[in-house]
Amino acid sequence: MIHMKCKLSHWFKKKSPSVTNIPKHIAIIMDGNGRWARQRGMPRTAGHRVGMDRVRDAVAICLEYGVPYLTLYAFSTENWKRPEEEVRFLMDLFEEALKSEVDKLDQQNVRVRFIGLRHNLRPSLRELMEQSEARTSGNTALTLNLAINYGGRSEIVTAARRIAEDVRRGEVDPEQIDESFFGNYLFTAGQPDPDLLIKPGGESRISNFLLWQIAYTEIYYSTKFWPDFKKADMRDAIFFYSQRERRFGGIKRGESI
Ligand code: FPP
Repeated sequence: MIHMKCKLSHWFKKKSPSVTNIPKHIAIIMDGNGRWARQRGMPRTAGHRVGMDRVRDAVAICLEYGVPYLTLYAFSTENWKRPEEEVRFLMDLFEEALKSEVDKLDQQNVRVRFIGLRHNLRPSLRELMEQSEARTSGNTALTLNLAINYGGRSEIVTAARRIAEDVRRGEVDPEQIDESFFGNYLFTAGQPDPDLLIKPGGESRISNFLLWQIAYTEIYYSTKFWPDFKKADMRDAIFFYSQRERRFGGIKRGESI
């Protein structure tokens, strides 16, 4: 079910204590940074910088509502095709953000994790990623997965290759391989699948994000660009989710045939 955004945040703010159906895992494709900046006659990179403010907002809302997992798509395996200057800016921004934000995230009891392939990221960024993960590993309020050099297809292929290696070593019997076994070889092993995927930016595509994990995820679509997607919009998305009845391929509860 894809939903067009509507203005419900005011209602939700007033009613939030009675809303019980809060997603356990929210995933966000932070789209529209470049267009947001271009509309204002600014370089695309200015949109990425304002996008960082929205990352802080998204974390704050998850903490406020007790959402235990948040996954943000920050850089895809396809984003290397962008101009070198933009890629360098984004890598610098990730490093800057990790240096400046981890203290606060740690105080907020947020666990930071990274999903994606690390081998072709610059060593200084990899080091900061490892430090942030180690520093926050004991935190329990929210797990924040940052997808950097992430691609859904590459994640599935990597998992398949690792399983094949384990089979070859005689450690895994092919009969053991079912959906839940396979899930344990993904970057998100041990985490619930996203309940809610938020897709701002106006274009309704998934862009190779969490392809395995979003099989039954509810999708909240917004025409707003990510730099404009503020706390009220996050609340609207959570409200949208709270109203959904999920059937996972079944039929409505109590409905006769
Ligand atoms: C997509 O918009 C956005 C990105 C590729 C980068 C998103 C990164 C941030 C907001 C910084 C987050 C930092 C951390 C540490 C989580 P786009 O450039 O594709 O926009 P467009 O569709 O308008 O071109």
